[in-house]
Amino acid sequence: MDRKPLILIIDDEESLRDGCRQTLEKSGYAVLTAGEGVEGIKIAREHKPEVVYIDLKMPGISGMEIIEILSRDIPDIVLVMITGYATIISAVEAMQKGSYDYLPKPFSPDQLRALTRRALEHRILKMETKRLREEKERMEKNFITFVSHEMRSPLVVIQQYIESLKVIAGDRFDKEATDIIERCGKRIESLAEMIEHWLDISRIEEGTFAQKKYPLNLCNLIARSAEEMSPLCKERGITMGIQAPESVPTIVGDEESLTRVFTNIIGNAIKYTPEGGKIMISVENDEYYVTVSIADTGSGVPADKLPFIFEPFFRVRGKNERHRGSGLGLTFCKKIMDSHGGEIGATSREGEGTTFVLKFPAQLSLIRKTSQSLSQS
Ligand SMILES: Nc1ncnc2c1ncn2[C@@H]1O[C@H](COP(=O)(O)OP(=O)(O)OP(=O)(O)O)[C@@H](O)[C@H]1O
Ligand SMILES: [Mg+2]
Repeated sequence: MDRKPLILIIDDEESLRDGCRQTLEKSGYAVLTAGEGVEGIKIAREHKPEVVYIDLKMPGISGMEIIEILSRDIPDIVLVMITGYATIISAVEAMQKGSYDYLPKPFSPDQLRALTRRALEHRILKMETKRLREEKERMEKNFITFVSHEMRSPLVVIQQYIESLKVIAGDRFDKEATDIIERCGKRIESLAEMIEHWLDISRIEEGTFAQKKYPLNLCNLIARSAEEMSPLCKERGITMGIQAPESVPTIVGDEESLTRVFTNIIGNAIKYTPEGGKIMISVENDEYYVTVSIADTGSGVPADKLPFIFEPFFRVRGKNERHRGSGLGLTFCKKIMDSHGGEIGATSREGEGTTFVLKFPAQLSLIRKTSQSLSQS
């Protein structure tokens, strides 16, 4: 770790490269140089310099492209533009793309030294901020998990007391009192559900959940999940249909958790669709993926809220508020999809409906191996 800070200069002007090298080496830094962009990117990827100076105007790959590539590839790197008079406006764009500052030509050795010092300090602050943010996120998560765990046993006890209270009370309580007991029971039940959801989510992240993965036929699994949800559909006067090809490639997955993914999404579709609405589930596939769409004719999600629906505890306020929920259902679904190497996304139009699309990698190796061994035999 106590190597000298490494500075990379990418500039097509040899005299400028040499001048910078001399100044910076005298100040105790290690220096690498490149005369053009591609070589510069190669050196940066290989040697991970702390600071890179990039001439904005060079033949070949432009300084702006180098900034985009390096700020994406090496997050802790600090990029500084070297600009001529004519390129000062582009320097603003470069800073928006991730460069830290710019050095206008011509510059003195003192300016170069001062900016390098500042860039290195900036890097330390940037890394420290990142570390603190990660630490904070970890602590918050551990805290919720700890609290959830601790709340579980007293909740079970309260649930049991409420059940006993109902039995003991029998006909002795009037309707108002029994209603209150009933409502207490319902609220405790949702709290217990929320805790179970949260603990499941943290187990997925730990890698101790959804581990029993076998080849599965998604169509069968979806049919079972739909069947499970159909009484609720009937109750709400919603029709549900499934469209699927005769046969689809198998996927590798954990049956129990994937069933919960589908019951969650169908459950949402039922919950957020008014009576008389429709839910359509369709399965499609190509050689590489099996894709399932679940479309409803419900309330929809406002466009500005749609990017957040997979976030923990996020619920759309307003019309949907009369429905109970923890806002963890979709977080669970997303984590399970991630752990299957799949994807989940949603499109929606407010007042018209929502479509969830789930994409699973098909079990390729098996298809390939089978066809290979067939062709070999
Ligand atoms: N099919 C849908 N149509 C309209 N809005 C939806 C739909 N699915 C999800 N949403 C919105 O996204 C939010 C998050 O959904 P999510 O399933 O994570 O939580 P929830 O349904 O509120 O609670 P629960 O944890 O009980 O599932 C919901 O509160 C709702 O506002
Ligand atoms: Mg839900």
